Amino acid sequence: MFNNTLKKDFKMLNETMEGYPLGYFDNAATTLKPQSVIQAISDYYEKYSVNIHRGDYDISFKVTDMVEKARDNMATFINAQSADEIIYTSGATEALNLVAMGYGLANLQEGDVILTTEAEHASNILPWFEVAKKTGAIIKYLPMDEEGKITDYTSLLTQDVKVVTMAHVSNVLGHINPVEDIIKKAHEVGAIVILDGAQSTPHLKIDVQALDVDFFAFSGHKMLGPTGIGVLYGKEKLLQELMPLKSGGGANARFNIFGEVVLKGSPAKFEAGTPHIAGILGFDAAITYLNEVGMDKIHAYELELRNYAYEALKKMDHITIYNPSAQSGIISFNVKGIFSQDVCAYLSKFGFALRAGNHCAKVLHEVIKTNDTCRLSLYLYNTKEEIDRFIEVIKDITLEKTIALYI
Ligand SMILES: Cc1ncc(COP(=O)(O)O)c(C=O)c1O
Repeated sequence: MFNNTLKKDFKMLNETMEGYPLGYFDNAATTLKPQSVIQAISDYYEKYSVNIHRGDYDISFKVTDMVEKARDNMATFINAQSADEIIYTSGATEALNLVAMGYGLANLQEGDVILTTEAEHASNILPWFEVAKKTGAIIKYLPMDEEGKITDYTSLLTQDVKVVTMAHVSNVLGHINPVEDIIKKAHEVGAIVILDGAQSTPHLKIDVQALDVDFFAFSGHKMLGPTGIGVLYGKEKLLQELMPLKSGGGANARFNIFGEVVLKGSPAKFEAGTPHIAGILGFDAAITYLNEVGMDKIHAYELELRNYAYEALKKMDHITIYNPSAQSGIISFNVKGIFSQDVCAYLSKFGFALRAGNHCAKVLHEVIKTNDTCRLSLYLYNTKEEIDRFIEVIKDITLEKTIALYI
């Protein structure tokens, strides 16, 4: 669908690995960057590399406007009500920590329940472990089937649940969680809902108002943007009460020698220090690119590719697939009798980049009954030709061949 124009936009697609064309299937870890994103970053450093919100001169006004325009664009991209609801962070991890520490520590008490899943990325569970330890709140997990799909939430959404925090899309299994209904039912019992959108925002059209989600976190680098930049969306009313993670320049309206500090409103109060200006402008170029292609088209194309790969893989007796019914571009699999890392190391010798392991979801093995998997994760620039070549290699993989790599 996008094949040939994309080769022009993504220079890395013209690169080779181990003498083979690069087959980049590690998009859930991070994505390649189009030229327009690289250009936006280098334009900042080459043409107008000044600070924002502080300089009383023309270039600073211009870059301040560019950053605030980028914030407006981001609000439109996820359909936030206002740009003040968009907080730039260093990534999904910082965004999720900000909510856990800023909301969890301030609002939870002994016995309150934090409801989550065993499929969470470390970034959306470790901060809550800390909140639970400090407040006496209790973490409970939604039940899942052996494919990692949530089987029940209604019976767990009781009055003692104060926070529901979960991935919109799982980074290991690619399931799109039934978040619309979970949010509705969570609100009925008075809980707030935080969605980790790190794996959904790059692939699906996000509408935070339609979801009625309270907080929503995602990263730029997983959606064509630069590393080191991400977003926390929060409903305006909740952001007014949310405590910032960091204090410093730009976040306060004034302070005095007695330590009395008056904070600014959102987003400034959460963004102390010089922001990652190049990152924000690069992220803006990324969403421009995604908008031009169209999020609906991207999701449909990824599903088509996924099904194409899945149909071929499921015919192979030596392959176990852990997420046969996922509705996104992730396939988690193992080759029987070969350690996942050895499989991926072998595949890399043919130009394929895949990740092996537990993918930072370290308690999910209880559910899917394996400690680690190979993860093939697709994005808009992948092609059926790459998948054909991948299938040719994996269909003949044997333990002997993977061992031979080391001799
Ligand atoms: C579901 C999920 N949440 C959070 C993160 C953390 O993202 P970042 O490392 O960009 O902060 C990841 C990264 O893999 C992820 O997949």
